[in-house]
Amino acid sequence: MKGISSQSFFLLVALTVLPAITSCSKKVQTGIPVGQFGSLTGAQATFGESSDKGVQLALEEINGSGGVLGQQIRLITRDNQSKPGETSTTVRELITRDKVVALIGEVASGRSLEAAPIAQRSGIPMISPSSTSEKVTEAGDHIFRVCFIDPFQGKVCAKFARGLGVTKAAILTDVSKDYSLGLTKSFRTEFAKGGGVITGEQSYSGGDKDFSAQLTAIKAGNPQVIFLPAYYTEAPLIIRQARQLGITVPFIGGDGWDSPELVAVGGDSVEGCYFSNHFSNQSTDPKVTSFVTSYRKKYGSDPDAISALGYDTLRILADAMKRAGTTDPAKVNAAITITKDFPGVTGKITLDEHRNPNKPAVILQVKNGKFAYVETIAP
Ligand code: PHE
Repeated sequence: MKGISSQSFFLLVALTVLPAITSCSKKVQTGIPVGQFGSLTGAQATFGESSDKGVQLALEEINGSGGVLGQQIRLITRDNQSKPGETSTTVRELITRDKVVALIGEVASGRSLEAAPIAQRSGIPMISPSSTSEKVTEAGDHIFRVCFIDPFQGKVCAKFARGLGVTKAAILTDVSKDYSLGLTKSFRTEFAKGGGVITGEQSYSGGDKDFSAQLTAIKAGNPQVIFLPAYYTEAPLIIRQARQLGITVPFIGGDGWDSPELVAVGGDSVEGCYFSNHFSNQSTDPKVTSFVTSYRKKYGSDPDAISALGYDTLRILADAMKRAGTTDPAKVNAAITITKDFPGVTGKITLDEHRNPNKPAVILQVKNGKFAYVETIAP
């Protein structure tokens, strides 16, 4: 190595070898980075799977028709395994490592509540497709949702119950979830308004398996209907145990029942029960039928409400980027804020000053193992 100093030798190595190494290990990423976080595995896996399916369908359609602002959307999806604490980790990674310009997630209110302060502090807009707890968007002006909120959903359930001609209801709440607590609060108030009586209130914690003590107490009050703002992970177990105890009255739930597992686990015991939801795949609205057709073609099954909300979420984000004319998070945030009359498959979406839309709900009934459309209840 005569004639070349060791210093310049290292410089030479650095200039020739290092770029080669970095270009091998780090593929150049193109496209607009958008982050999605959800429960793709774990206790509430059907929530994450359904939401992702809707988002992926929208992604395919948007990118297939030229993308946004001349670029493709590059969706980066991270799984929080339905575990508390994991959402913060995945959201931080999406923001700091993947440099996403916007976030889509979560389905469960508890996990959206975990993510929201991080997105807010980082100045990254976050749109929750399906979290209905009122608190979610209260985290700040960067947090949006495309679904209705629980004060409305609880009211819808109470109104529907009264419409069945009943005056006595019992309530069984999952005290480990803001979602369940919020629904109980609005159901209780609204049911009483119409002269209804709450014959008893009982509670449990997500993950519990034995509900016999609570159900025995509820039975003693002789309710004509039982309000059960549970997730699908507990609802069918609870209803099964209720039938074994001789409770024959219908249960009414919220959107948290929306999963194929409700019927798979609940079987005959859930027949005839009702729940409120965001969407019915039996709608004859041409926007919905065309979405249902594309979804069937891609996945070979019918979309549930969570898929429909996921689909609307990415389309709303893409629309906001187009209107903003840039992917700069602050400008995209401003454009999402003024979303107006967006033609979603889950209804027309206009965000109010609290970044929530005002949309109708549907009541579905379990009939022959399927979710049959009963009626639409307007805000
Ligand atoms: N609304 C529920 C929550 O906020 C999540 C959910 C939405 C479940 C839609 C099913 C269908 O926790």
